[in-house]
Amino acid sequence: MPVSRTPDNSSGHPRSASAKRGQSAFPDPLSVSAKREQSPIRDPQSPIPNPQSPIPNPQSPIPNPQSPIDNPHSLKLAISGKGGVGKSTLAAALAILLARRGGRVLAVDADPDGSLASCLGIPPAVQRERIVPIAARRALIEERTGARVREYGQMFTLNPRVSDIADTYAYVHDGVAVLALGASAKGGAGCACPENALLRALVTNLVLERGETVILDMEAGIEHLGRATASGVDTMLVVVEPGQRAVESARRVLTRAADIGLRDIGIVVNKSEGPGDEEMVRAALPGVAVCGVIPYTDAIRANERSGRGVLEGLGPDALAPFERVLESISVPRRTGVSA
Ligand SMILES: Nc1ncnc2c1ncn2[C@@H]1O[C@H](COP(=O)(O)OP(=O)(O)OP(=O)(O)O)[C@@H](O)[C@H]1O
Ligand SMILES: [Mg+2]
Repeated sequence: MPVSRTPDNSSGHPRSASAKRGQSAFPDPLSVSAKREQSPIRDPQSPIPNPQSPIPNPQSPIPNPQSPIDNPHSLKLAISGKGGVGKSTLAAALAILLARRGGRVLAVDADPDGSLASCLGIPPAVQRERIVPIAARRALIEERTGARVREYGQMFTLNPRVSDIADTYAYVHDGVAVLALGASAKGGAGCACPENALLRALVTNLVLERGETVILDMEAGIEHLGRATASGVDTMLVVVEPGQRAVESARRVLTRAADIGLRDIGIVVNKSEGPGDEEMVRAALPGVAVCGVIPYTDAIRANERSGRGVLEGLGPDALAPFERVLESISVPRRTGVSA
């Protein structure tokens, strides 16, 4: 449905009433179709997928047929938390482990300043050439929304066609397909501009209509998730490192997540340097399920320094905490935040 776009207000971020309430400005896709279709990821520009992927992992635990994780074809996972706590590290690690278990995994970098592709071990030159964020694809935005990017007062469609975007633009690396959303030029995900119309419709499509596992590496603000989209997220993991600032940020994210109706929320304590760290986070966020504790691991830092994927060279002991996060996701929870 085309809408008239009004000029920017003084803040530069005009918001609809529904956007102010944190709701999607789009028709609730659940009422249209919440059915997740099977649709294989293929990128005509990607190299031919490695025939050895998904990589069998002899170190993985024995599959449990009862667990959705061992049948991970439609898990929808969002990962949030303060800057630098390890969101991308966790998102990449879980994506790689699920792909090794044979799942089809789409890892989505929803952080405008994201580094998910690096965490997956994709070399910078390949990233520059092959992983162009959707928000930077001007021709695509203009074609799908019917409006010119960065021009005021235009009509544009609020429900652009997006169902082919993941298949066309995701780049497949070691069995994980990665798609970068990027940032709209005007900032704020609530801004009524063609870029955001496309991004919001795309996130809704990824969460509600894709057949494979989708892992969203979010920024702390989770602005890309509207209420309708949140209903399709199976679990949101909020990454916390031991420290007051990360805890405060997690508290805000948890509150916002509950507001938009995310049903299943848990925290992952990252960079833990001992039991005291876990206890500190548990005490600061009572009532919130802890889905895992990842120790501070020198090999993870070393991988970051040398531009390798997060799990490269990690032995079974270092992989086990990530595996335990996957196992814990299969346990349904409904948690709130205590102030
Ligand atoms: N368990 C860990 N042990 C050691 N270093 C870690 C661990 N987890 C993450 N790191 C390091 O912390 C830094 C930040 O990690 P990462 O980029 O995953 O965080 P982020 O939350 O995604 O950050 P941003 O908000 O900037 O996107 C990186 O240098 C990463 O290697
Ligand atoms: Mg990140």
